[in-house]
Amino acid sequence: MYEHDILIIGAGLAGLRAAVEGVKNGLDVAVVSKVHPVRSHSNAAQGGINAPLTDRGDDWEGHAYDTIKGSDFLADQDAVEVMSREAGDAVIELERMGVIFTRGEDGKLGTRAFGGQKVARTFFVGAITGSALLHVLFEQSLKLGLNVYEEWFVTKLIMEDGICKGVVAYDIKNGELHTIKAKAVIMATGGNGRVFEPSTQALICTGDGLSLAYKAGAPLMDMEMIQYHPTTLARTGILLSEAARGEGAYLLNSKGERFMEKYAPDYMELASRDVVSRSEQTEIDEGRGIDGNVMLDLRHLGRDYIEKRLGYLQEVSLEFLGIDMAEEPVPVRPGMHYLMGGIKTDLNGATQIPGLYAAGECANVSVHGANRLGANSLLDTVVFGRRSAEHAIEYIKSVKQNSNSENDLKLESKRLQSILDRPKGENIANLRNDMAVNMTKGIGVWRDQKSIENALSNLHDVKNRLPKISVEHKGKFFNTNLIFALELEFMVDNAEAIIHGAITRKESRGAHYRTDMPERDDKNWLKHTLVYHDTNRENNVRIETAPVTITKWEPVKRVY
Ligand code: FUM
Repeated sequence: MYEHDILIIGAGLAGLRAAVEGVKNGLDVAVVSKVHPVRSHSNAAQGGINAPLTDRGDDWEGHAYDTIKGSDFLADQDAVEVMSREAGDAVIELERMGVIFTRGEDGKLGTRAFGGQKVARTFFVGAITGSALLHVLFEQSLKLGLNVYEEWFVTKLIMEDGICKGVVAYDIKNGELHTIKAKAVIMATGGNGRVFEPSTQALICTGDGLSLAYKAGAPLMDMEMIQYHPTTLARTGILLSEAARGEGAYLLNSKGERFMEKYAPDYMELASRDVVSRSEQTEIDEGRGIDGNVMLDLRHLGRDYIEKRLGYLQEVSLEFLGIDMAEEPVPVRPGMHYLMGGIKTDLNGATQIPGLYAAGECANVSVHGANRLGANSLLDTVVFGRRSAEHAIEYIKSVKQNSNSENDLKLESKRLQSILDRPKGENIANLRNDMAVNMTKGIGVWRDQKSIENALSNLHDVKNRLPKISVEHKGKFFNTNLIFALELEFMVDNAEAIIHGAITRKESRGAHYRTDMPERDDKNWLKHTLVYHDTNRENNVRIETAPVTITKWEPVKRVY
């Protein structure tokens, strides 16, 4: 049995920013992560981090409005205000911690343009911004004394009288199960991209934290809001950063036309992601694509510029498709990229479960609403990672750690053994793929009642087969087969919440575009959907709604 003041689940940017805050304040803080921290998915974030810096003539209100408009007015405006006001300090702090941001000709921190914003306010490190931030935060937190449970997998939250008191976790390296008690737990496990196939997200993005919190009673909010990124590489689904369009790349159809002129004449390729993805899909569906793709053209930027500012994209394109971006356009298409929904939190990261906080992609503090702006996700992680730790520090002042977790440990041990003891049955990878391919069919760039119902009916089938999956490898050391089984259980919970969110919302808004209900309906649907796990219900799901917080920006028609 282990014990800490604050336990953070997940070692991406939200988790590590929370960790820095905790250790800086002299607390006993630990991070538990199923992978080595610098292999967390934040590592894959490419384009940058937004901040409206006043010495550039920018202001928080401009960033806030772009974010709210981008969200199709579903974001809570008080939360956006917090993020926009704190953005500048967050970026400067990262620079002072040691992030070597790319600089402009004038020697100041450089910026590039990103979608849905008229001001170039995205700070960046080439096209490896996430990786640069992650390494610095990891170094800083280690220097300050962070404890790290690396390659440990959390299987359950320890709950007593409705309060979160720690976790049960499995040491992947040797197959031992332990309890880790804590006065407060911060969930920072990232997204659930692999509930869909294909996805730009890493194979580890299986929605673990979302499921753990959901099963413990926390509501998941706006789960139907799934972002499709406009430029994922043909055949592979790998992300090609929006930075390419920010630096001036064009999108072309099979006739060589810059088709965004028709859909977003003012913002062109830099309209919001939902708008660009739908425009691309329209071109493809109406026969003006090339093998299910459109083309991303960077040739006019020139080789030197591409290699200097977008070197990583050039590498990916060459390595996976053999295409030199300086010579040829690259085929791209919309691909699942990000979950705007998540565990509902307040402005301080507190969930509805005392002792449980959440930050980053697994959380929904409601700054992204129905569509996130590119480069607002890194900002969300550092602002709300820090805030969740600050408030956890206050919360634990009145908490006495007195949980008896032995029973949880015994029950989890029995449960895991029963999975290992199953006779040969369903193949985990096949079932996972079946679910994920059907999720993309049902809840894609376009969706309608029938496609969502098909996804639901497929999910019922997946749920029936789930107890029959078998783990072929029975050993204790690095039993990744067992981890895949546990991850699949988490993913099924995520799929369930996404489908119920999508079936509930009877309108189109942002990324939730229903071809059978193509209009936004503010009269009836300017509200959040909440999905609860409720064992008193026949299908274990309860749906509620909650109002959107509007402070100063009344919803208007969204035009780019
Ligand atoms: O395109 C990108 O670089 C992705 C950035 C983001 O999702 O924020």
